[in-house]
Amino acid sequence: MADKILVIDCGSQYSHLITREIRRLGVFSELIPAGSFNEKFVKEDVKGVIISGGPDSVYNKEAPKPSVKNINVPLLGICYGHHYLAHIMKGDVRKGKAEYGKAVIEVKNNSALMKGLSKKESVWMSHGDEVYSLPKEFKILAESDGCIAAFANEGKNIYGLQFHPEVAHTRNGKKVMKNFVFDICRCKKGWDMGDFIQKSIKEIEEHCKGKKAIVCLSGGIDSSTAAFLSAKALGKDLTAVYVDTGLMREGETEEVKELFRNSGLKLIVLHEEERFYKVLKGITDPEKKRRIIGQLFWDIFKEKLKEIKADYIIQGTIYPDRIESAQSSKHASRIKTHHNVAIKDIEEWRRQGKVIEPLQDLYKDEVREIARRMKMPMKMVERQPFPGPGLAARIEGEVTKEKAGIVRKADKIFREEIDKLPKNRRPTWQYFAVLSNAKATGVKGDARAYGHVIVLRAVDSKETMTANVTKLSHEFLENVATRIANTIPEVTRVVYDYTSKPPSTIEWE
Ligand code: XMP
Repeated sequence: MADKILVIDCGSQYSHLITREIRRLGVFSELIPAGSFNEKFVKEDVKGVIISGGPDSVYNKEAPKPSVKNINVPLLGICYGHHYLAHIMKGDVRKGKAEYGKAVIEVKNNSALMKGLSKKESVWMSHGDEVYSLPKEFKILAESDGCIAAFANEGKNIYGLQFHPEVAHTRNGKKVMKNFVFDICRCKKGWDMGDFIQKSIKEIEEHCKGKKAIVCLSGGIDSSTAAFLSAKALGKDLTAVYVDTGLMREGETEEVKELFRNSGLKLIVLHEEERFYKVLKGITDPEKKRRIIGQLFWDIFKEKLKEIKADYIIQGTIYPDRIESAQSSKHASRIKTHHNVAIKDIEEWRRQGKVIEPLQDLYKDEVREIARRMKMPMKMVERQPFPGPGLAARIEGEVTKEKAGIVRKADKIFREEIDKLPKNRRPTWQYFAVLSNAKATGVKGDARAYGHVIVLRAVDSKETMTANVTKLSHEFLENVATRIANTIPEVTRVVYDYTSKPPSTIEWE
C-alpha cells in the first residue's frame, strides 16, 4: 500500500494545488472536502494530514471545523488551517491587518519544516485573520511584519504556515512541502505516472481474470486513455463501445472512428439517436436531463454487455467528475451529475466490483501525461473535452433535434474560427456554443426576425476545478457572431459568456 497524504479542503482556491504538488514529489495525495472529513479517513496508508486555506475566519459560524484532535499522524495547517489549528489548541487568533500577495518572512527558529530556508524568504500570503499568540508548548518558526508566519509543536507533530507553500510565488515553497512530506511524515515515494501505468494494467488484468469487458468510449481524452490502458491489459477480451446519442458535435462520430481506426482496439459504434430524443422529450430540468441521459447510456451498455457476454464495464471517470457528482465524499454538495458517475444502478454495480475506473484518482492533466507516455496519437491527447451528455448540456430547456441542429451549426463555426488562431491564442481548455432559452428581435433581409440567442463560451483551465474566461479579441468575437447570425436563420443574436469557474461551471448545465 503506497503512502498517502490527505488534504482537507476548507475552500481555498489553492487546495487542489497542494495535492498536485505532493504527487509531483512522488507521493500520492487526495483532497477531502472539510464537511465530510472524519478521523476514520486516517487509515494505515495515511502518513500526514494537511488542512488547507479557505475564505472563512475561524470565528464564522459556518467555517469548516474538521475534527483532527485525535489524529496520530503529523498535521500541517496552511493559512485558514494555520488559524484553525492555533484556535483549537487554545492559541489566540485575531482579525489582523490583511496581507495579499508577496511578503517577506523572517525565519526565527530551526525546525524540520523550515530546513534549508534562508533567514529571509519571499512567500505568498492571502489572509485576513492572524495568529496573535501561541499556547505554551508551541514555538514560533517565522514571522512577517510582526505576525506569526509559521509555528510548530514538534512533540505533537503539529505545524502551521500562514503563507502558501504550494504556489509558485513562494520561492522555496517546494522545499517546505518536501520537508513536511519526507522528513516529518516520513513518506516513501510510491507515485509515478510510469509506475501508475504498469500498476493499472496489472490491476485490470487481475480484476478481469480472463473474462471479457467493455470500455465506454466517448472519444474524449479520459475514456480514450482508459481504453488504451485496458486494451494493454485485456487485448481481444476488450470491446470499446461508442454511442452516438444524436447530441454529438458536427463530425464527432466520424472523427472518433478515424482516431481509433489503427489503434488495434475492437470498436463498436451504436446509433441510438432516436432513443435519446424520445426519453428527453418534455424534460427541462438540467439535473433530470443528466440523470435520464446517464441512465440510458447505462441501459445501452448493459444490453451490449449481455450480447457480447462480458462481465465488466470500464469507464474513464476522473477525480473532478467524482467531486462534482459528490461521489468523492458522502456530504459533498452535488454540483452536477456526471453522466457516468452518480447513476443509482452504476453505484450498485460499483459495489459489486463490476465497474472498473482506472483513472478515478487523477486530474485531467495527469491523464494527458499518461496518454503521452502511452504514445497515444497527439490528436487524441490534445482533443478538447466533450461531456457525456453532449449537446444536451449546451441546450437550455427541452432538448429537440431542431435545437441540437442549431447549436451544432453555431458550434462548428466557432470551432472553425478558433482553429484558425495561432495555438498560443486558443483557449487552453474548451470552446463551444450554447443555445440559451432567450429569444431576441433581429432584422434579416429588411424584415423583423425573432430568433434564438447563442452564447459562446471559451475557457482556460488546467484541471477543470477552476477555469478562466479566454480573452478573445473583440474583432475575433465580432467576426464569429456575424458568421453565426448571418448563416443560421434561426439565430438573431450572439453573446459571449464572461463568467469564470467558480462561480459558474464550464458547461451551461
Ligand atoms: P463543469 O461544467 O462541471 O465541467 O465545470 C467540467 C469538465 O467536465 C466536463 N463534463 C463532463 N464530462 N460527463 C463527462 O464525461 C459529464 O457528465 C460531464 N459534465 C461536464 C466538461 O465538459 C468540462 O470539461
